[in-house]
Amino acid sequence: MELRIDRQAMVPVVQQIVDGMTDWIVQSGIPPATRLPSVRQIARGNLLSQSCVVEACERLVSQGVLTARQGAGFIVAASPPLRETDSELAVFEGRHAWCDEVSASTGRLILGQGGLPPSWREPDDLSYALREVARTDMASLFNYSSPLGLPALREQIAKRLKLLNIDACNTRLMSTSGASHALDLIVRTLFKAGDCVVVETPGYAPLFDLLRLHGVQMLEVRRTPSGPDIDMLESVLRQFRPAALFIGSHHHNPTGSCLTPAVAQRIVQLSKTYDLRVIEDDVYADLHTGSGTRLAALDHGGRVIYVGSFSKTLSSSLRIGFVLADSELLKRLAEVKMISGLGCSRLAEAVLARLMATGAYRKLVQRQRQRLNADRAAALQALEDAEWEVFGKPVGGLFIWARARLRDQTSVRRQAQRCGLELSAADAFSPSGECGDWQRINVACACDPRARQFFRNTCADRPPAF
Ligand SMILES: Cc1ncc(COP(=O)(O)O)c(C=O)c1O
Repeated sequence: MELRIDRQAMVPVVQQIVDGMTDWIVQSGIPPATRLPSVRQIARGNLLSQSCVVEACERLVSQGVLTARQGAGFIVAASPPLRETDSELAVFEGRHAWCDEVSASTGRLILGQGGLPPSWREPDDLSYALREVARTDMASLFNYSSPLGLPALREQIAKRLKLLNIDACNTRLMSTSGASHALDLIVRTLFKAGDCVVVETPGYAPLFDLLRLHGVQMLEVRRTPSGPDIDMLESVLRQFRPAALFIGSHHHNPTGSCLTPAVAQRIVQLSKTYDLRVIEDDVYADLHTGSGTRLAALDHGGRVIYVGSFSKTLSSSLRIGFVLADSELLKRLAEVKMISGLGCSRLAEAVLARLMATGAYRKLVQRQRQRLNADRAAALQALEDAEWEVFGKPVGGLFIWARARLRDQTSVRRQAQRCGLELSAADAFSPSGECGDWQRINVACACDPRARQFFRNTCADRPPAF
């Protein structure tokens, strides 16, 4: 039983053993009543202490995954543990499950997954804040939140936005259940079927699905390493007079690229000239070292709507994001928010407000940035060694957008399979479903030995290792 324990991870070792054993039982289809290897064997085989293994096994007994029999060790329980199935986990981006480091059913590493792997998550501060709120804040445990979200949270978010030179007073800021909710409220409030908007290609696939759901037509503008292709954008604006532009400003998904100050200035000018709404999606903002130029910081005409999230850093389960817009529009968004869902989770808002107020959130993202910076540098080196082409070297965030010199996509995908990787669907990031040979690579996965092997095997000049 190989458990793959990551000693650098913030997830406690015992928890990693619990997760690893559960995966082993589920993925290998271990039948009920099977006796586990002895505690000594498991500990020795994985360089663990026996006491950690015993503690993990006892937790699995209390979860009903194992049973303990005197003198016979630990035995797989009669009914298999209930796990999220692939279809439950599946989210549409990249057309595969994206939340787990390793796809639950295949054991494969999802190279382009959309978030931090579970082993990067840090549970201590978050669980402490949850306990504290539950112990001291009855209203947050039981009541609805206010339409714009808890003032204490909005105040903290406004402070963070100030660091990006974005002026965010309380009446312009509203909490949402993740950035997805913010995008949904914006689309429902501002557009109707048949309206036309500009999106970037490649871009964020669930946005395309959302627009399609509402019958909103998409005009595609190429994403370059410095932002949208500005000449192409201007020509599309002149010709079609679309209602809005959706744009990923920093560490754009999937390319990892950032708007340069010059491109940002031009977009703000164009938004004035063509009376264009701009929806700036900046969910990777906290994974950026330094400030960078935001459209919301340059805009003085209320045309830019800014969207953020805490899914990529703190937890995608808390479901907290936010939207910043002019006060009039924000009122309309808040109305739709209340009509459709009676607000966000006050408990989640209170927990986040506490983590931000104590500085725990700031320290968390500092650690994440440092670790990502180190892994990004190593990943870029590995890609360079394998002669992959990189789309603008990203300086922050989660993603690298790159393609193998080996141009035969069937061979690239075959190599990925052999190395135990799952790649995103070739058409996942294009609104028109166009197929490409670029891959979204999650920096946190690129240092996995399977990914390294894959890069080496797809180097055009070298014979594959298999
Ligand atoms: C560009 C972009 N926007 C929005 C979202 C949605 O984030 P949330 O989990 O906050 O809904 C994501 C998540 O991957 C994203 O990459």
